[in-house]
Amino acid sequence: MRGVFATILQNRAVAEDILKMVLRGKDGAGLAGARPGQFLMVRCSDTSDPLLRRPMSLYDVSGDTFSIVYRVVGAGTRLMAKMPEGGEVHVIAPLGNGFNLPPQSGRVALVGRGVGAAPLVFLAKTAIAQGKRVFGFISATSRESLVGVEDLSKMGVELQTGVDTDGSSTELLDLIRERHSAEPFDYVATCGSRRMLRLVQDLRTATGVPGEVLLETRMACGIGVCKGCVVMTADGTYKKVCTDGPVFPVELIAG
Ligand SMILES: Cc1cc2nc3c(=O)[nH]c(=O)nc-3n(C[C@H](O)[C@H](O)[C@H](O)COP(=O)(O)OP(=O)(O)OC[C@H]3O[C@@H](n4cnc5c(N)ncnc54)[C@H](O)[C@@H]3O)c2cc1C
Ligand code: FES
Repeated sequence: MRGVFATILQNRAVAEDILKMVLRGKDGAGLAGARPGQFLMVRCSDTSDPLLRRPMSLYDVSGDTFSIVYRVVGAGTRLMAKMPEGGEVHVIAPLGNGFNLPPQSGRVALVGRGVGAAPLVFLAKTAIAQGKRVFGFISATSRESLVGVEDLSKMGVELQTGVDTDGSSTELLDLIRERHSAEPFDYVATCGSRRMLRLVQDLRTATGVPGEVLLETRMACGIGVCKGCVVMTADGTYKKVCTDGPVFPVELIAG
């Protein structure tokens, strides 16, 4: 983990209210060794407003560049959306513990909703590089706000998408169950939807397939100091999402 000034190579809309920011560390060191599921803390302003950095998952790491994909939801992300290409931004990265792809797994399912699909793209790239077959189940409230589908499709992920406004994702959830019972996945990762998390938990309970979830909580420091991100786990213990996570085994999280 280190703080780095990065040059903004790209900061453009890729979906409705969603932008992709591509960065290059000014010291040229990049984020070699960073893992899917790890995140950055982004300084959104040169002033003290907003004071706190905003956590964003790594969307990709490639050579000396790395990227995030973010939804504009409030003050911090509105400022990020205005950052000019060619300008610079300060980030602390990489933070947290990433996904743990089991080395023996051959069939990996990635289940994401909305901007929650962002960290799954880096995970898909890593899994494919390891020779695994990757299945993507991505949903959103509209076709225009589906995240990552073009990149996932280009890298050879077998992709199913779903669009619904109420978060039900019924057809997609049925499809995941069907695919799993026909030919089981041996690892499932999810982010962005409680309903999808519950499905992955059910698969885990019924068939023992390991699953992990990336949790997005409010964070103040991102480095384990403030305790602002603490969640109570299914066994009644408390975990800091920033340093114990943000990726957790699904059975540890209350659905
Ligand atoms: C580990 C981690 C990885 C993340 N990765 C991404 C990512 O790749 N792309 C992305 O778009 N977002 C991601 N997020 C969420 C992102 O950090 C927040 O959306 C961002 O901090 C909002 O900042 P803001 O100042 O724009 O909004 P604020 O003004 O702080 O909030 C605006 C609204 O969004 C809600 N909100 C803010 N943060 C969260 C949150 N974490 N979860 C749910 N609701 C929230 C607030 O309650 C409020 O209603 C991640 C969060 C974590 C913890
Ligand atoms: S965000 Fe401060 S301890 Fe996790």
